[in-house]
Amino acid sequence: MTITGERTDEDAIRDEPSQLHVLRAGGVSVVASFAAGGLPEILHWGRDLGDLTSGDAGELIAGLERQVSSSATDAPWPLTILPGEPDGWEGRPGIAGHIAGVPILPRWHVIDATSDATTLVVDAVDAGLTVTSELRLDAEGVLRVRHTVTNSGDALVELAALEATMPFGSSATELLDFGGRWTRERTPQRRALVQGSQVRETRRGRTGHDAPTLLVAGTPGFDASGGELWAVHLAWSADAVYRVDSLPEAQGMLGAGELLRAGEVVLAAGESFSTPDAVFVWSDSGLDGLGDRLHRSLRARPWHPNRPQPVVLNTWEAVYFDHDLAKLERLAQTAAAIGVERFVLDDGWFSGRRTDRAGLGDWTVDREVWPQGLHPLVDAVRERGMEFGLWFEPEMVNEDSDVMRRHPDWLLAPPAHAARTWRHQQVLDVANPEVADHLVERISAIVGEYGIDYVKWDQNRDLMEAMHAGRAGVDAHTRAVYAVIDEIRARHPHLEIESCASGGARVDLGILERTDRVWASDTNDPIERLAIQRWTELLLPLELIGSHIGPARAHTTGRVTDLGIRMSTALFGSAGIEWDITECSPEELVLLSSWITVYKRVRGLLHSGRLIHPEYADSGATVTAVIAQDRSHALYRLARTETGPHALPPPLRLPGLDRSARYRVSPVVGLPVPRGLDVTPPPWLARGELILPGSVLADVGVRVPLFAPAEAIVLEAQLVSSAPDRHYSIAGAVGRVDA
Ligand code: DGJ
Repeated sequence: MTITGERTDEDAIRDEPSQLHVLRAGGVSVVASFAAGGLPEILHWGRDLGDLTSGDAGELIAGLERQVSSSATDAPWPLTILPGEPDGWEGRPGIAGHIAGVPILPRWHVIDATSDATTLVVDAVDAGLTVTSELRLDAEGVLRVRHTVTNSGDALVELAALEATMPFGSSATELLDFGGRWTRERTPQRRALVQGSQVRETRRGRTGHDAPTLLVAGTPGFDASGGELWAVHLAWSADAVYRVDSLPEAQGMLGAGELLRAGEVVLAAGESFSTPDAVFVWSDSGLDGLGDRLHRSLRARPWHPNRPQPVVLNTWEAVYFDHDLAKLERLAQTAAAIGVERFVLDDGWFSGRRTDRAGLGDWTVDREVWPQGLHPLVDAVRERGMEFGLWFEPEMVNEDSDVMRRHPDWLLAPPAHAARTWRHQQVLDVANPEVADHLVERISAIVGEYGIDYVKWDQNRDLMEAMHAGRAGVDAHTRAVYAVIDEIRARHPHLEIESCASGGARVDLGILERTDRVWASDTNDPIERLAIQRWTELLLPLELIGSHIGPARAHTTGRVTDLGIRMSTALFGSAGIEWDITECSPEELVLLSSWITVYKRVRGLLHSGRLIHPEYADSGATVTAVIAQDRSHALYRLARTETGPHALPPPLRLPGLDRSARYRVSPVVGLPVPRGLDVTPPPWLARGELILPGSVLADVGVRVPLFAPAEAIVLEAQLVSSAPDRHYSIAGAVGRVDA
């Protein structure tokens, strides 16, 4: 076995002792030990331990050497990165399955291990199997773990599970993950960590409205800004297992992997199976710290959308299936007049698609509705300086469609019958190369003909009885969908893609490897949306989260809200409008136009800054803030979702700024100031601004109006001066000494 390391520090651990490998980056250390033989054990995943000398390494191993407990194996046993019974582990195994009926119970022998300061790659074998385990710590301290198993024998290998695990700190006693449903995605679920192996399974064939999204283990009472946390996310868009093992004889383990169905992954000689990346994130500054690490990691990707995210007008809630050129042209004209930059034609443009019961899968423009194709609309959009986006739902067909009549054998279904319909649709077997080719060709043809800038890629049903080539087919289908998207992007490098799935049922880092934003939910009700976005923001930075202003009466809940809260909510995201704005009053259009001006002015901040969710001492209201990385500029949104206990609301603290610098604080000009419930709003609001040090803003705060539920205010803090002595404050008056 050779273990190599490249470290700059002379004292850092090198080959000797070769038993320890330390990955360090972004304030995180991961310490892997080979001391027990076999696959490595993770001795530490968490706060950076600093440089360790080879002497420290030996002592660290010695200090953590296990003793033998009562009623247990007679010798100490290692908790490895792929734990299993042969090690002595009796929790959920990391690998499971069988080789010709014989259970997979490997005693791994490491044949190679290479590492540098941020990566460890280990190859190990046992009779008939090879495993390659990769641990990659990125510059932001986010750890990605992937295992690849290869059948190196002759018999068939059937995998039942291949999952990544990492140990978390023994101080973590509480768990958080997410549930949800259509229009209520990413609902947090908190619970105590209890003994045993607990598994969250999803079997929806897509990520799901109720996807766990992140499984977090944390110290008691962890919240947005406090607590030490260990979390895992699976970068995968289909069935998943999120797991936590808390056994009396071992450190707690978090993990995730694909949920594999019986017979789904069968490897012939020489064949391999690679897991999706399990993304592990540690934070010592609560959920905002965790989110910040993830956001930084995503923003460092070379393909991360880094141009200003355009203001979108999506036609769905404006016209649904009622496509009429004159109406859509008026919509485009109105959109352009108020500053919209991208016009997205949603569902309903293709042959036979007058309702959701027909036409899905026939990706040709409906000539009855569009006798000249989409050209007149595309031209109208382009002439007004906007980009053109188009909706597709490539993986699906209506039973009433030409493609299904022609190719009834193209379904992802058991041989004997189709699955139950869902929104009157069935799923195509994209792992069938004919289907994949068809999709790539049809979508490419439309994208090419109209020079489409943006595709809204929808997926509107769970997969059920998904079978490909006579066996469980979710894995093959999902990988094939990824490949189709990759091919389309390769053919149209400038095309941007939005991931949508009945709203937010495909929000994961697997789909975001190949798409540019997600549609977080089908609800544009701002009150519902505030919660959905708040938790989507734990995984994703704002530029990746589509958020639209809908009509006053939300189509999904019937709730009526003012434009102010709808604007403030949609502002914090990749913003747009989904509303028949041809019906808006002139006053509403003026307000929308000024909101767009605000968004264009602050999107650079929103899409690069640090996102935090400060606590506010008034239940019923939430605070979301974005602070520029250099702390020169920040936005704080206070939104009230229900009444609170206070007759006079507590001052709103504005944390995160440079404590010694001074900031001008004012409500964002261009957004409606909430009417509030009190007759006398805080006097400073009438004055328009305050200038205060970051320390005062963080620890004392400023008064805000007593809002009605469904009102919000966005305050802006701008650096005035970092020189404290250029300002003075006397008896409540704040003045500025001009230089
Ligand atoms: C579900 C999406 O979430 C909606 O935004 C819309 O695109 C519809 N599908 C269209 O069928």
